[in-house]
Amino acid sequence: MKKAIYPGSFDPITKGHLDIIRRGSKSFDKVIVAVLINSEKQGLFSIEERVSLIRKATFGIDNVEIISFDGLLVDYMEKNHISIILKGLRNSKDFEYELQMANVNKILGNEIETIFMISNPENSYISSSMVKEVCKLGGNISGLVPSEVESIIKKKIMG
Ligand code: PNS
Repeated sequence: MKKAIYPGSFDPITKGHLDIIRRGSKSFDKVIVAVLINSEKQGLFSIEERVSLIRKATFGIDNVEIISFDGLLVDYMEKNHISIILKGLRNSKDFEYELQMANVNKILGNEIETIFMISNPENSYISSSMVKEVCKLGGNISGLVPSEVESIIKKKIMG
């Protein structure tokens, strides 16, 4: 079974993330969306909220599993017999950062491969932090987040 792990902060999930999950689910038998539990960086949404938003946004995609993890990604992968990391690439800035992470993970782990999918152009400007900023300032986030979770995200940010 060809499994890929798609790790990230997902604070919150965006249309760009969902596109990579959808496309990944067609290329792999299973995509495990892995939400990082980062004790050093609080974030806006709790881990449970992030997982719940991803679950709602990916409803109907049968071969997607959502988990949360702490510690090293490669440790989780080795424990769970996963050797492929799936990542999205929006631009050259992502590339620089992702290249470093891919190489570090390769050194830390055993036979780890990182596979990149190029974001669709319409998603290449979307980030979780942009979603939070636009929403906080009263902007329309319908083009930025999955429609299934737009109102929940708005409620959390706007109150
Ligand atoms: O959405 P993000 O914040 O770009 O995701 C970063 C993430 C979660 C993929 C990365 O920080 C990660 O894998 N963290 C786990 C700790 C780890 O394994 N670090 C060493 C490799 S960079």
